[in-house]
Amino acid sequence: MPNDGYLDKSVHWKVRSGQLAFAEPTHGEVAEAILDCGLATEVGQRLGSGKEADVYLCRDRNRLLVVKTYRQYRTSHTGGRPVKLESMGQRALRELELLGYAWEGGARVPKPGRRVENMFSMQYLGTAEAVAPMLQHAVLRDPGLFLQRTIDGIEGLAEAGIVHSDLSPFNILVHDDQPWYIDLAAGIRVDRLGAPPWVRLNEAFRALERGAEVLARYFRKYGLTLDRADLMNRARTKIDLFRLG
Ligand SMILES: Nc1ncnc2c1ncn2[C@@H]1O[C@H](COP(=O)(O)OP(=O)(O)OP(=O)(O)O)[C@@H](O)[C@H]1O
Ligand SMILES: [Mg+2]
Repeated sequence: MPNDGYLDKSVHWKVRSGQLAFAEPTHGEVAEAILDCGLATEVGQRLGSGKEADVYLCRDRNRLLVVKTYRQYRTSHTGGRPVKLESMGQRALRELELLGYAWEGGARVPKPGRRVENMFSMQYLGTAEAVAPMLQHAVLRDPGLFLQRTIDGIEGLAEAGIVHSDLSPFNILVHDDQPWYIDLAAGIRVDRLGAPPWVRLNEAFRALERGAEVLARYFRKYGLTLDRADLMNRARTKIDLFRLG
């Protein structure tokens, strides 16, 4: 059994008595959990599935929204408490906080909603007909302009005090001809660096450089050059201003 080593006796008892299920929930169970906790009134299709989380298109009364759920070994609905709920709850909380922080700082990210346990809601990007595509799969009307907007957007995140540490054409959605930045989970808030702060900041800038490289490769297929040095300079300047201010 996966968590054997660190489960206490009461949890072992729940496992033996069948109150805990060591399996990922089905789509129906996730939907039930989202509805139960009141994050939405209807749960639709799964939009994406990453290393640790699944993303669902939902509706809250007549408003479309998105719910991201961090996966865990969770309980059956009949009883017992979920194992690892705490840590997955922390991930959801962290991502929601980063979203809120970026949003308030004026960056182009989905507007954050609410968190319940390991799930949180956010603004849906897309129309009633179609979800906003990932940059990787989008057909760009004006790739040159979009490249400029992408760089401006990364600078905008820095201006809000955030370094996105997982930038790629999979974590940028194209909505209204603008880049929207998602999956901030691994990002850092430069006002919360801890000590020694420059270590984490340097790590984050290295991650940003890797992201810039990935994006440069992406834009090359349109024959465009993403000036990585300029991007890094702009992001650094904004972060410095943020830290001084
Ligand atoms: N606000 C949103 N509006 C529309 N679609 C979204 C939204 N957020 C996420 N999606 C869709 O869900 C997919 C997965 O989202 P996201 O990148 O946040 O998580 P992930 O990569 O699956 O998670 P992990 O953190 O486990 O890697 C996205 O690629 C996108 O297609
Ligand atoms: Mg992602």
